[in-house]
Amino acid sequence: MYELVYTSLATGPHGTAATAAILAAARLRNAACGVTGLLLFDGRRYVGLLEGGEREVGGLSVLIAADPRHAAFEVRHESCDGQRRFDGCALAYAELARGPGGLEALAQQQGLQIVAGLLALLPQLQVQRG
Ligand SMILES: Cc1cc2nc3c(=O)[nH]c(=O)nc-3n(C[C@H](O)[C@H](O)[C@H](O)COP(=O)(O)O)c2cc1C
Repeated sequence: MYELVYTSLATGPHGTAATAAILAAARLRNAACGVTGLLLFDGRRYVGLLEGGEREVGGLSVLIAADPRHAAFEVRHESCDGQRRFDGCALAYAELARGPGGLEALAQQQGLQIVAGLLALLPQLQVQRG
């Protein structure tokens, strides 16, 4: 299982409708290629985790990186021996407030630390499975 974590910054004010459009298209495409994952958003910063086949996740990350709805796309972690953590979720989604202990701090991390940090946030969040 290939696992990739990226960070990016929204390029505009993203309301619920914009986020819903991103999620709807993303979930269809992820499901079609057996990719699952999680997207976190604080109104400015995104942190995303994708997991699946290496070719599928790699291809998706190229598409996502080119999306003008965000910028400063950076891969913070890649691993070939990840486990499937979001089984059944083409793209789970959660929002959190900006501030201490939020996505800005998480986005400073990389490698397995960013995965651990992301997982540690989950119990406090209302995660929309999708
Ligand atoms: C923060 C962010 C995360 C995204 N995550 C995914 C994703 O997990 N899977 C996906 O297919 N598209 C994702 N997208 C959308 C893609 O960048 C791209 O717009 C979409 O796949 C293109 O679909 P379309 O050609 O049908 O318009 C994401 C976009 C943004 C801004």
